[in-house]
Parts: sequence; C-alpha cells; structure tokens
Amino acid sequence: MKFSLKLLVAGAALACGLAAHAAPIVIKYSHVVADVTPKGKAALKFKELVEKNLQGKVEVQVFPNSQLFGDGKEMEALLLGDVQIIAPSLAKFGKYTPKLQIFDLPFLFDDIAAVDRFQASPEGQSLLTSMSKKGIMGFGYLHNGMKQLSANTKLLTPADAKGLKFRIQASDVLEAQFKAVGANPQKISFSEVYQALQTGVVDGTENPWSNTYSKKFHEVQKYIVESDHGVLDYMVIANAKWWAGLPPDVQKGLKAAMDESIAYGNKAAFQEALTFRDKVIADKKAEVLPLTKEQKLAWRTAMKPVWQKFEGEIGKNLIDAAQRANGK
Ligand code: LMR
Repeated sequence: MKFSLKLLVAGAALACGLAAHAAPIVIKYSHVVADVTPKGKAALKFKELVEKNLQGKVEVQVFPNSQLFGDGKEMEALLLGDVQIIAPSLAKFGKYTPKLQIFDLPFLFDDIAAVDRFQASPEGQSLLTSMSKKGIMGFGYLHNGMKQLSANTKLLTPADAKGLKFRIQASDVLEAQFKAVGANPQKISFSEVYQALQTGVVDGTENPWSNTYSKKFHEVQKYIVESDHGVLDYMVIANAKWWAGLPPDVQKGLKAAMDESIAYGNKAAFQEALTFRDKVIADKKAEVLPLTKEQKLAWRTAMKPVWQKFEGEIGKNLIDAAQRANGK
C-alpha cells in the first residue's frame, strides 16, 4: 500500500514536470517583404509580444523575404497547415473572395487615411470574415501604402504606358487596370520582380515606397511617377481550423499581441512612407517625378472604367462605402 502510494506520488510529480516542460506551440509567420517594411515590423513585433506574454507556451518564427514560401504558395501552405500566419496583399485574395478586389480599384481611395476609414467601417470589417467558409480567418488589416508607377520611360500620361509590359500582383483588377491604358500586364511573384525589371522581362511595375526601396526596384527603373493611383495593404490571416483548436488562454494572448502588432505596423506605415520616398530620391538611381493635377486626372479617367467592369463581383454597396471614406 505504502509502496503504491509512493509510486502514485512519483508518477504525478513526473507528469507535472513534463507538463511544465511541454513543448511550446510553434507559430510560423511567413511573408515576402523585408523586415524594415511595415509588414516586416509588425511580424517581428508580434513575435516579441507573444514571447513575452505567453512565455514558454508559444514560440513565433518569422520568415521574411519569401524565405519559406513565395506569394504563389503561401496561401496553399496556410490551408495545409505548413504555416500558421501570413499577411498577403489584398490583391492576392481574388481566388478566395471577389469582394476584396475592391482594394485594387484604381483611384478609388484618395489616400491611406481614407483606406483606413473604409477598413474600420462596418463594410470593411465584414470583409475580415468573408473567407471563413474557405477556412481562412482574418485578424485585421495592415497598411503598406499608396502605389507609385515606375518604368524606364516617363509615365506622365496614360499614353506613355501604351505597349509597355508591367509586372503586376496576381489580381484580375490590376490586369484590367493596365489593359485600360493599352499596356501588357504580367502576373509575377514578388520575389522575381527585381530580376524581371533588371533583365527587361517587364518594363515597369507599381509598388509602395517601402517595397521599392527595400527591394531596390528603383535601381533598375529610370523613372517613378508619384501617381498614388492605388493602395497596397494586407490582411493578416490564420487557418481557421488551427485557430479554433488552440486553448482559450493562448487565443486570448495571441489576439492581444496581434492587435498591438497591427497597430504598430500601421503607425510605421503612416510615419515612414515619406521617409522611404526620400531615401529613393536621395539614392539618385531613379528620378522621382511629380504629376500635375491634370496629368493625374488623365490617368484617373483612363483607368476608372475598371470600376464598372468589377462592380458586379465586388458589390456596389462596398464601392459606395469606400467612396464615402474619402475626403472626410
Ligand atoms: C507585391 O507582390 O508587390 C506585394 O504584394 C508584396 C508585399 O507583400 O508587399
């Protein structure tokens, strides 16, 4: 009797010891941009906060620069459980929900503050759960910034783009946008853009300042026009089934860390967009050209028919809500 009690106590102590040293839950957070960009910073902040608040319980591994998965594969990897968190550009969700195509409509948003207001609106928030049937849950939106057009020729008017090849993200709206000005768009993974520009596979591209600078696109493009013609933002997402299987206290800690990391990345996006622009200018590799009001209006007029083409898929109510977010 005495012996078995001792055994029981020893067994319980061993079990407690094992529980205390249980392997942490490992979260792989994969993305395609550099650590210095808003998305790169948000991912590292998430790691820092999680490992502080859920010490020993959760380990976060961040893989930037398409190290783990490029943008053609990361969604598939998320759904297969090979990675737990990703933050694709909103342009890359077309296959999963046509509604998110709204963010690619050219000249829909006046600036990033308008994008922010739309994302915070009931219509914007509803899009975070628009892919739940596909097994994807959205934590929130993360900003990068407004896109600029670049090429080896000056893109001052829409006619200047005619016949040129442009690299685009995997988005049918962006394809239509460049076709609207007589250009030839090509869907190419982010990790291949520098080489495509350098070797002349394409003549130009569009990206926000932080991506242009951190990936050195300005070193292989002669001119960048300050077109601000569209937005490049992200949704931070997880595999819904994986999330549902986490213990409630871990979910709570992760959600709090995610909210704080997104706020941190968004603040950086607002504060640093112009810093990256200035760095591109200071490098003197590409010439940065402002557009006059008239030139910008000509681009807008040429690209705007794209809205109508996608209105049926996106929904007029969403487009109206986005326009209401302008000029407040
Ligand atoms: C791109 O492919 O240009 C962007 O979506 C990359 C990114 O994640 O910012």
